[in-house]
Amino acid sequence: MAHVSDLIATDIDAYLKAHENKSLLRFITCGSVDDGKSTLIGRLLYESKMLFEDQLAALEADSRRVGTRGGEIDYALLLDGLTAEREQGITIDVAYRFFSTDKRKFIVADTPGHEQYTRNMVTGASTADLAIILIDARKGLLPQTRRHSYIVGLLGIRHVLVAVNKMDLVDYSEEVFTRIDREYRELAARIGLPDVLTIPISGVRGDNITQASANTPWYAGAPLMSILETIEIDETRVLKQAFRMPVQWVNRPHLDFRGFAGTITGGVVRAGDAVVVMPSGRNTTVARIVSADGDLEQAVANQSITLTLADEVDASRGDVISSAELPAQDADQFEATVVWMSDAPLLRGRNYLLKIGAKTVTATVAPIKHKLNIETMEHVAAEQLALNEIGVVELELDRPIAFDPYRENRDTGGFILIDRLTNNTVGAGMLHFALHRSHNVKWQDLSVTKAARAAQNGQKPACLWFTGLSGAGKSSIADLVEKQLHALGHRTYVLDGDNVRHGLCKDLGFGDADRVENIRRVAEVVKLMVDAGLIVLTAFISPFRSERHTARALLEDGEFIEVFVDTPLSVAEQRDVKGLYAKARAGQIRNFTGIDSPYEPPEAAEIRIDTTTCTPAEAAERVVAELRARGVLG
Ligand code: ADX
Repeated sequence: MAHVSDLIATDIDAYLKAHENKSLLRFITCGSVDDGKSTLIGRLLYESKMLFEDQLAALEADSRRVGTRGGEIDYALLLDGLTAEREQGITIDVAYRFFSTDKRKFIVADTPGHEQYTRNMVTGASTADLAIILIDARKGLLPQTRRHSYIVGLLGIRHVLVAVNKMDLVDYSEEVFTRIDREYRELAARIGLPDVLTIPISGVRGDNITQASANTPWYAGAPLMSILETIEIDETRVLKQAFRMPVQWVNRPHLDFRGFAGTITGGVVRAGDAVVVMPSGRNTTVARIVSADGDLEQAVANQSITLTLADEVDASRGDVISSAELPAQDADQFEATVVWMSDAPLLRGRNYLLKIGAKTVTATVAPIKHKLNIETMEHVAAEQLALNEIGVVELELDRPIAFDPYRENRDTGGFILIDRLTNNTVGAGMLHFALHRSHNVKWQDLSVTKAARAAQNGQKPACLWFTGLSGAGKSSIADLVEKQLHALGHRTYVLDGDNVRHGLCKDLGFGDADRVENIRRVAEVVKLMVDAGLIVLTAFISPFRSERHTARALLEDGEFIEVFVDTPLSVAEQRDVKGLYAKARAGQIRNFTGIDSPYEPPEAAEIRIDTTTCTPAEAAERVVAELRARGVLG
């Protein structure tokens, strides 16, 4: 076998030249570990002669050591070896593996992690032209096959290659292959996958990988590598798009130069082109296109450049400089598809960080329109999305962003959702369109300000946010605090859980999604009341850190004072003032906090009250003292 290193040693120029002119196919592989994904990728790397002698020697030695089937090379092991070598202790979601044959270059997004597969698949797939979907011939189509195929469709990957693997373990049965082929084609038709090829292979034995296998005389198609080498790819797709460049950073080395640096995600730009900066909508023209090699006349998709503009136009990180003829859109409310990737479900009403290009904003999930039943491909009503579920949701952002529908531009239309407390990526999605109301509702400025109202009230507006188990003593303490403040002449209001659930939140129950919505509404009311210049006291279990964080984020620094009424479950249950714990234990109330519904205690509350060591009156004294110390009482 001629290895890369030989080639490079003998004729490096010819090698590089040959590479330059070859087309590039980007693809992903979908399938679980057991389907033979690693073996297949390992095999492709091996067959493509992209191995160095030392890697090959190590691989053969390893295979001898672990004694694989019939002394064959263990390709999955090879891949593991390469992964370990590259990772060097850092965890990576997606490893892009490069290989090439005489005809073409390839980049395969490989996902070493076995868990969170869907997440890796989505993040690795945004630039893919083709997806290989692996099916274990013994198992046929699995729910994962349906899910991955659906996602491949959503991502707009045009070509699907279904590799029916482990054919050696079903005696190369034509019947098995034909059945899987038929079932898959039915699925593809329902999903609307345009271009599907199926192929019987054995990654371990090498059947139909580079050569037609004698074991499958009934298969008339090409071997897998030939398909990868010849499948038609539209390399001009991104060039034909409208010009888009999300600003990565503003380059201002001295006062006379202000450049906007980034990578072009679609189209072509020339000096003198009319452009518009979104979402602000400012029009201007391109003055210069600066690159590492000096000024350019034009630049195209995937090039990294710095643009200078003819006018003093403001653009910051995350803004999109776009063609003036076909500008990007701007909006703050969308319909989008979301693929959920976290163990903790996506809940209606909860908010997340949404990252699109270089921009990060806050997104609230306003209704979930439906989710997908992966078995039947039907749309079903939903209040939440569990791990790996796919749904269509409406998103409300805290600021407008520049965007394109995902089907027009994967970069300016694709986004990820991040949990604001853990910073984990919890979802990925595709923007469909802006909601009309996004443009028809504008902010109305008013003359009397929050500061003016606060001054007239002679106090600093604030919110005392009491949290704790049912029966912890939140309402009692809040009541005593308000009495004192009222006596001192302050303007106050108590929002109490049970009371608010008689009106504003009458429609809500105690499931997780309803509690999220309950607190979302309350937080918005608190924001209005603080704006009105009041000192607001809230007494809600508010069991989730995420929503308490949201409430805090709606106010200005220092306005949100979290009071953790820390009463152990055993004590609250023993007191059982409303008799609800007894009912919950008897199974008459479901989703009861502390019994069969979680409570997440605050990690850094401004005030913590241990009700086992003080009376409600003493607790109220402490809270008032704290308000005084914080200057709230003026
Ligand atoms: S929260 O979780 O959404 O913040 P909230 O404070 O509004 O709850 O309401 C809690 C009150 O509702 C409790 O004090 C209790 O009186 C009553 N309640 C009725 N059912 C439940 C339940 N399943 N879990 C907790 N509280 C309940």
